[in-house]
Amino acid sequence: MITFVTTNPGKFREVSAALAPLGVRLRRLDRAYPEIQADRLRDVVTVAAGIVARQVPGEFLIDDSGLFVDALGGFPGVYSSYVYRTIGPAGIVTLMNKEARRGARFETVFLLGRRGRPPRIFRGVCEGSIARTPRGRGGFGFDPIFVPRGSRRTFGEMSVEEKNAVSHRARAAEALARHLGRRLR
Ligand code: IMP
Repeated sequence: MITFVTTNPGKFREVSAALAPLGVRLRRLDRAYPEIQADRLRDVVTVAAGIVARQVPGEFLIDDSGLFVDALGGFPGVYSSYVYRTIGPAGIVTLMNKEARRGARFETVFLLGRRGRPPRIFRGVCEGSIARTPRGRGGFGFDPIFVPRGSRRTFGEMSVEEKNAVSHRARAAEALARHLGRRLR
């Protein structure tokens, strides 16, 4: 059993659904940890892992994700949480108002850790674009403004299963599951 340390029930729902068919079970620990200001998601999770490892017995998982918008030079990226709380998805749409270039990507970095062991990092990316207006009530965070490549709907208009078929987080979960599978052999 792996402890997924997250205050976000949406992340837990997605990762549990992605991993259950692969035989990986998770429990959720609803606890916040400090996130440093850094340019890369992997640096944020690596520092956080050192703190979480001292608090959580056994194996744990943490997820740091961000939305990187091409026309905004990759903003909000590692500042996605702050931007969500301040201007929110509607604010990003306003910033992109006159912008023809709509490209963006979501990225998830997972860290699998255990006290006294070197951490393992897994990444998942989903390319897509920023919608002209927020759409849909599903998902969480910036889901209503992100349209994954190959779809016309936003993540906010999708079920967990539909989002998991293409999402950054589901891809990171697949990489984690491959690692766990190798470990069993
Ligand atoms: P965090 O720091 O990984 O918790 O996420 C940064 C911000 O991005 C938060 O406001 C989340 O709500 C948002 N976010 C993270 N993952 C996703 C996603 O899969 N869809 C939409 N928003 C997300």
